[in-house]
Amino acid sequence: MRWWPLILVALLAVATVAFALSWYTPDEPHENVRVAGGDASRASAAIGQLGCGTCHTIPGIKSANGGAGPPLIRWSERSYIAGRLPNTPANLVRWIRDPQVIEPGTAMPDLGASEGQARDIAAYLYTLGDRERFDR
Ligand code: HEC
Repeated sequence: MRWWPLILVALLAVATVAFALSWYTPDEPHENVRVAGGDASRASAAIGQLGCGTCHTIPGIKSANGGAGPPLIRWSERSYIAGRLPNTPANLVRWIRDPQVIEPGTAMPDLGASEGQARDIAAYLYTLGDRERFDR
């Protein structure tokens, strides 16, 4: 009996599975999403100036340990912002600038964040994923 047709079929099967797997991305988190014009290294200063940390616990930001608002842990894995907007960079910047416009009456006040500050903070939040450390 000749084996080469069988071997060929087996090789084809392996190649097909490998190809299929190369396209598979298991529910990718938004970690390392880019925020145009945002610089994560400036976020700590902006968060301090605007006082986000009085209401939010934010990993890696020392003074941000408030409990009035939801903790912004593993931000890159969130599907929604405030349970309402899809978690995209543009929506996060909007939320940080104008929460009261998006959700009138929400307990998060408009803090007067500039576009630049909002982008810097957003850039930082998207660095937070399941590997985040509280000691950054
Ligand atoms: C006075 C308290 C307070 C301050 C100050 C505050 N927030 Fe909030 N924030 C909240 C509350 C309360 C919510 C929940 C709002 C909702 O779900 O309607 C919230 C929601 C959020 C969310 C969405 C959270 C989620 O789980 O979907 C983000 C992101 C956020 N705030 C970022 C910020 C940033 C950045 C700042 C500083 C510029 C800030 N917040 C300042 C109270 C505050």
